[in-house]
Amino acid sequence: MSEPLNPVENASYHAFPFIQVTTIEAHILEQQRTHPEATGVLTSLLYDIALSAKIIAHATTRAGLIDVLGKAGLENVQGEQVARLDLLANETLIRVNACTGRLAGMASEENADIIPIPAGYRTGPYVLLFDPLDGSSNTDYTISIGTIFSIYRRKSKEESGQIEDFLQPGRDLVAAGYVIYGNSTVFVYSTGQGVHGFTLDPGVGEFLLSHPNIRIPDKPQFYSVNQGYERYWSSGVRQFTDYVQGKTGEFDGGLSMRYVGSLVADFHRNLLAGGIFYYPADSKDPGKPHGKLRLLYECASLAYIAEQAGGYASDGRQPILDIVPTSLHQRTPFFVGVIS
Ligand code: AHG
Ligand code: MN
Ligand code: MN
Repeated sequence: MSEPLNPVENASYHAFPFIQVTTIEAHILEQQRTHPEATGVLTSLLYDIALSAKIIAHATTRAGLIDVLGKAGLENVQGEQVARLDLLANETLIRVNACTGRLAGMASEENADIIPIPAGYRTGPYVLLFDPLDGSSNTDYTISIGTIFSIYRRKSKEESGQIEDFLQPGRDLVAAGYVIYGNSTVFVYSTGQGVHGFTLDPGVGEFLLSHPNIRIPDKPQFYSVNQGYERYWSSGVRQFTDYVQGKTGEFDGGLSMRYVGSLVADFHRNLLAGGIFYYPADSKDPGKPHGKLRLLYECASLAYIAEQAGGYASDGRQPILDIVPTSLHQRTPFFVGVIS
């Protein structure tokens, strides 16, 4: 009888399919190596955001069991009803990042003004902006939601971060990304060297590389827009919608329409499958003439990812990343993806 296979010596024998295990920390460190001037602070900051995402995911995956569903009974600076998961995500990001010495301050969709670093704690070279929980209207229905973030190098010299540290165009982003809390938890980020996605393995509590070098497909599959507001659109947006629906002969009869109502979910699907998302200006709410989405911590963050993945993002007239912000919570029409 031939000798039994000796797993150690017989290279063709694998007890299990070998998977490439790259943690997000290892990947960020690898990216940092190409920046000789990097001091490791950005690496640690991205890791802190990943830690925040793990904590938020731990809540979103059990939301119906730990009594965090529903509304908080508060209205935020956006004039929107705040979900309890909004508050949980917001508090998590602030507490994890406030005292690390990596930030000069933070800005959140849920906070009217910039969030200073607590007295007595060191400030650092970056500012962090975030939409702590995107897709709040979906939190109670087990529909994918997310977190969106942007990181800029601070510009001011004072000890505490100043508003000009936050009102920077997307072209000056140091890093940006998002987390999608869906059937799995995926962390997608870029530091200007391509777009990379990591899936959380809850068993080991690590984000592991699952989507290296994401490129948005040249051929679009989907268009994503809330057609319930069609009557409030400009004639140009209505014509554009006719175009993507194939009414003028393009796209082999037209793109399929997919709209979740969570920007992160709609963006992530179109990033991987190909397509365009748009939230145009509309006349529905005279108080919001530029549409609903916020420039600093929704549109610029995702525009950066889209361009790094070979796509494009515009307000209908200019690249999103060229817009110089004038206020923390300013809104902008948003068209993002690939349509050519
Ligand atoms: P948020 O929950 O952070 O306020 O964001 C909600 C946004 C975005 O996620 C989504 O694309 C959009 O609201 C949906 O708006 P409509 O319901 O008006 O389509
Ligand atoms: Mn949002
Ligand atoms: Mn939000």
